[in-house]
Amino acid sequence: MIIRDFKLSDIDDVLAIEYDAFSDPYPVDILIRLHESGAGFIVAEMGRRVVGYVIFWIRNGIGHIIAIAVDENFQNMRIGSRLLDKAIQILFANKIFTVGLEVRKSNVNAINFYLKKGFVQVSEEDEYYGDGEAAIIMQYTKSNN
Ligand SMILES: CC(C)(COP(=O)(O)OP(=O)(O)OC[C@H]1O[C@@H](n2cnc3c(N)ncnc32)[C@H](O)[C@@H]1OP(=O)(O)O)[C@@H](O)C(=O)NCCC(=O)NCCS
Repeated sequence: MIIRDFKLSDIDDVLAIEYDAFSDPYPVDILIRLHESGAGFIVAEMGRRVVGYVIFWIRNGIGHIIAIAVDENFQNMRIGSRLLDKAIQILFANKIFTVGLEVRKSNVNAINFYLKKGFVQVSEEDEYYGDGEAAIIMQYTKSNN
């Protein structure tokens, strides 16, 4: 497996995963705008096919995971783990030692994944999503900064 920067020719693979994974996927123009505006956009490639990606950026001195997803046929193979590790490594290299994210309260799988990766729940925000679901706000902080 190769972990590398996103390139525009990956967009169809990324969209297929995004639309499978989320009930409210980011549309193609937002994904491309994120890429063009300099957000971190890393993919996992297996056999010349993108099987996962992570998008992140830095806002107000804090890293933020915007989206992470792995093709359901490739989940639980540590691909999400490697993508998240890479994003955090890039943020740390940019002297950003706190990383935050929001996750749907019902997305227990993802919450467990983030807990295993060392994130902790810091708060909960009611009606965060368009359909009224609450978000769990989670944060990861480098231990010795
Ligand atoms: C969440 C997601 C990115 C995890 O990626 P993944 O490649 O399947 O996860 P990994 O194989 O790297 O797992 C890493 C750890 O998390 C744990 N984990 C992964 N999925 C889990 C699940 N469904 N339930 C419990 N733990 C889980 C693994 O057991 C592993 O723990 P270990 O280190 O002790 O073995 C992936 O399941 C996914 O794309 N989900 C759909 C999209 C989504 O919900 N994204 C997050 C939205 S905020």
